[in-house]
Amino acid sequence: MELEDKSIIITGASSGIGAAAALLFAAEGAKLVLGARRTAELEALAAQIRENHGRAVFLAGDVRDEGYASALVALALREFGHLDGAFNNAGIVGDMVPVAEMGIANWNDVIAVNLTSAFLAAKAQIPVMKEHRQGSIVFTSSFVGFSNGGLPGMAAYAASKAGMIGLMQSLAADHAGDGIRVNALLPGGTITPAGGAGQPAILDFVANLHPMKRMANSEEIAQAALFLLSDRSSFVTGSPMLVDGGISVRLA
Ligand SMILES: NC(=O)c1ccc[n+]([C@@H]2O[C@H](COP(=O)([O-])OP(=O)(O)OC[C@H]3O[C@@H](n4cnc5c(N)ncnc54)[C@H](O)[C@@H]3O)[C@@H](O)[C@H]2O)c1
Repeated sequence: MELEDKSIIITGASSGIGAAAALLFAAEGAKLVLGARRTAELEALAAQIRENHGRAVFLAGDVRDEGYASALVALALREFGHLDGAFNNAGIVGDMVPVAEMGIANWNDVIAVNLTSAFLAAKAQIPVMKEHRQGSIVFTSSFVGFSNGGLPGMAAYAASKAGMIGLMQSLAADHAGDGIRVNALLPGGTITPAGGAGQPAILDFVANLHPMKRMANSEEIAQAALFLLSDRSSFVTGSPMLVDGGISVRLA
């Protein structure tokens, strides 16, 4: 078991990559705190995990809220007594329009949900991990935060995901001496609700941007998150880890 008895927070767990990660991590022995906006989805996922003899509790909330970040940590401590890892994965794409047509509300929303939430999550998680001198934090960035890859209308999303890489590397540098590793996962196009699931024209367009001529499924991304949260990646910190079917080299 890769995550035997590790207590791990997953945000964005109600769907897509986060839900796949929850099922995979639970099967690998993790004790999970599941977070996202929708209670019913989280409740169903936690029930499914428990039916399969896994351990999971949940708390719905908004990752833009500092109190929610702290409440997820408090829940992990109350239920499991410690916090070993966090997969800070919740995110939104926002309006896919050029900057000249983009409203400030969309810009602010994308930055808040994707980037400010990462800051708030780390701020709540690090003191607890520091106390035990161990922990692994993984942010879900995107290939778009590294290399646009040919996707139009990505300005706010790309800025938020690139910002997340800078934040991650600063955290990695600041806390390597505390036994805390901090990394980012940079998925390529992944078949999820946010990635265009159920919209064949979008899926086809995005698949063809990838040298592999397909998109990832959520489990393939979850496997990389598992590696970063497990002790197998014990010498990996400050790493922006591309799991992108080669899309980032397309325009290189
Ligand atoms: N699907 C892709 O092609 C792709 C590619 C690269 C990166 N990503 C990133 O992967 C992560 C997961 O996305 P996904 O594709 O699984 O999408 P998804 O839409 O299936 O899941 C998004 C999750 O984030 C949660 N969420 C969104 N806003 C929230 C908020 N304000 N507060 C709390 N939870 C919130 C949702 O409840 C949901 O659980 C995101 O950060 C996304 O940017 C996705």
